[in-house]
Amino acid sequence: MAKEVKTIGVLTSGGDAPGMNAAIRAVVRTAISDGLKVKGIMRGYAGLLAEEIIDMDSSSVADTINRGGTILYTARCMEFMTADGQKRGAEICKKHGIDGVVVIGGDGSYRGMGKLSALGINCVGVPGTIDLDIACTEYTIGFDTAVNTAMEAIDKIRDTSTSHERCSIIEVMGRHAGYIALWCGIGNGAEEILLPERYDGDEQAIINRIIDARKRGKKHYIIINAEGIGHSTSMARRIEAATGIETRATILGHMQRGGSPTCKDRVYASIMGSMAADLLAEGKTNRIVAYRHGDYVDIDLVEALAMQKDIPDVYYSVSKKLMR
Ligand code: ADP
Ligand code: F6P
Repeated sequence: MAKEVKTIGVLTSGGDAPGMNAAIRAVVRTAISDGLKVKGIMRGYAGLLAEEIIDMDSSSVADTINRGGTILYTARCMEFMTADGQKRGAEICKKHGIDGVVVIGGDGSYRGMGKLSALGINCVGVPGTIDLDIACTEYTIGFDTAVNTAMEAIDKIRDTSTSHERCSIIEVMGRHAGYIALWCGIGNGAEEILLPERYDGDEQAIINRIIDARKRGKKHYIIINAEGIGHSTSMARRIEAATGIETRATILGHMQRGGSPTCKDRVYASIMGSMAADLLAEGKTNRIVAYRHGDYVDIDLVEALAMQKDIPDVYYSVSKKLMR
């Protein structure tokens, strides 16, 4: 039987992502219109255990839809990985009258949310990560802003790379996933895209292609390298030594996680956040809001965590055809 929920909490957890504020705003305003009270839990599970809990109303989220980062701050919390930490988290929720929580984050945050749910706190997850690496959903909040930020930076590097007739290795985020690298690779017209899911480590083949491209008159050679492969600086040194072509490495880093969210991120975040609040209002728990096959849906947590995701073949094969 569905549990009646009167007060919900909302938290952001794991790496921040542009659009998280739009999601928080949607949770707060939808919950209020559903007749619920809302509390903000600061700094993810760490803030929950520290009882950093604030009352939120409609005005708490005013002027936030356009802001990057997360107004609730975010953190990673080792203590919440333990059974004692989880039990204390559930007790703190009960003490503050919180009977449902919206967790905005990635797979790790969902695992934590599953533990809270098992301890009697209804929970719903919203996908927030720039990495696009959550298997159950085709879209994660922050990805569009991050790839556009990276794309603009790479365009600029391309200008100087062409002027100096250099090779450039540009490392983009994605510790375990190559989606940002793949999209930038296609969107920036890169000569090489190195993805953790596909890279075979054959650096000599890259060197041969660089030499061949220079013979054909290419003025630059842009290599997009995903963080999951890394070692961009040493790779640049080896390529320069082997080709005789000046080679520079740029690691874009955390600039990809900041900035005002794009319209796409604001809209997806608004719909997903709003759906999450509605699901809690209906007494649901252990659900993840997702975007699949052109529709917004909600999926059981256990099923969601069991799903696998890989780079779509069509993107990879097209990127290969266009790299000449
Ligand atoms: P993301 O949500 O982006 O995948 P993390 O993997 O860093 O980010 O997870 C965020 C937080 O979620 C962790 O710091 C921890 O507090 C909590 N968490 C992750 N995995 C678990 C787990 N198996 N059990 C309980 N809590 C977890
Ligand atoms: O937000 C996702 C992500 O950017 C990964 O691509 C990256 O590996 C990780 O976060 C780094 O996060 P932090 O520097 O905060 O530990």
